Amino acid sequence: MNSRSLDGRTRVYGVVGHPVAHSLSPAMHNAAFSELEINAIYVAFPSTPEQVSRMIEGVRAMNVSGVNVTVPHKSAVLPFLDEVTPLAQKVGAVNTIRNDQGRLVGTNTDVGGFLRSLESLEVQVPQARIALLGAGGSARALLVGLADAGASRIWICNRTTERARQLIHEFQEQFPGTDLQVAELEALHAEPWDLLVNTTTVGMEHPESPVDLHAFQEVRYLADIIYKPAQTLLLQQAEQLRIPSINGLGMLLYQGAEAFTFWTGLKAPTGVMRDALLSRLQDSPPTRSR
Ligand code: ATR
Repeated sequence: MNSRSLDGRTRVYGVVGHPVAHSLSPAMHNAAFSELEINAIYVAFPSTPEQVSRMIEGVRAMNVSGVNVTVPHKSAVLPFLDEVTPLAQKVGAVNTIRNDQGRLVGTNTDVGGFLRSLESLEVQVPQARIALLGAGGSARALLVGLADAGASRIWICNRTTERARQLIHEFQEQFPGTDLQVAELEALHAEPWDLLVNTTTVGMEHPESPVDLHAFQEVRYLADIIYKPAQTLLLQQAEQLRIPSINGLGMLLYQGAEAFTFWTGLKAPTGVMRDALLSRLQDSPPTRSR
């Protein structure tokens, strides 16, 4: 528990989703509020899919200052907001809402969070050739972010090919400068990649890898959005092959930092936020940024 005193002026923030009991966001944001001596608190608001519209009305009616939105509401909240940033519109998902005196503005900080986490790898996203594993909501957000940032090629490989095809079909016209394609695993093996990104859940619950890195002609950098376990089998392979890599903790941290700034206008204290995440991570179930 933090030692801030709460009073009649305390601003309330939170995370809405289902389930949210294991969310690491309360620890991360309360640490930031404490550090900057901001009179605010961040809590978890469990809400089922049927409750989405009433949950949003609750945010307005109770004058909640801001919320993060997580699974399964990220797309469902869009119609209920007063404004949605162009990026969140493009992704079709909102993970952060700010209450501007009753006017609810939604944005997506997952994209920026992921791109910022890549900075530690020194990969140059503009002109990069990127292989993306998976075609769910996380892949969708990352595809938009990476294509928007100027990747020259993004090939998507997914267990269910049709899902990858739909994703490509939806975005091909929006990103004419990026070579967007559905790819079989064998095709990925045969090409050189600046960055390989795993957005699947493979490796989270069991020690298995979505691909065998040894089979690839060339992978320069690797990102796995799983952060528990901290080192998946895929990341272990990367280490063996001396491929610089990151797990999903940076994405989690920096999406939180960007949300914090969106709400408060202040630079986020990422050091204490990271410490708070790391200290709570031990007790949390296997999970990934999504
Ligand atoms: P999110 O929206 O959080 O990204 P999701 O929509 O559940 O999550 O997507 C999970 C991803 O992991 C999908 O790409 C899924 O592949 P399918 O589209 O074929 O379901 C992938 N995935 C999950 N389990 C998998 C497995 N055992 N092998 C390969 N891919 C798997």
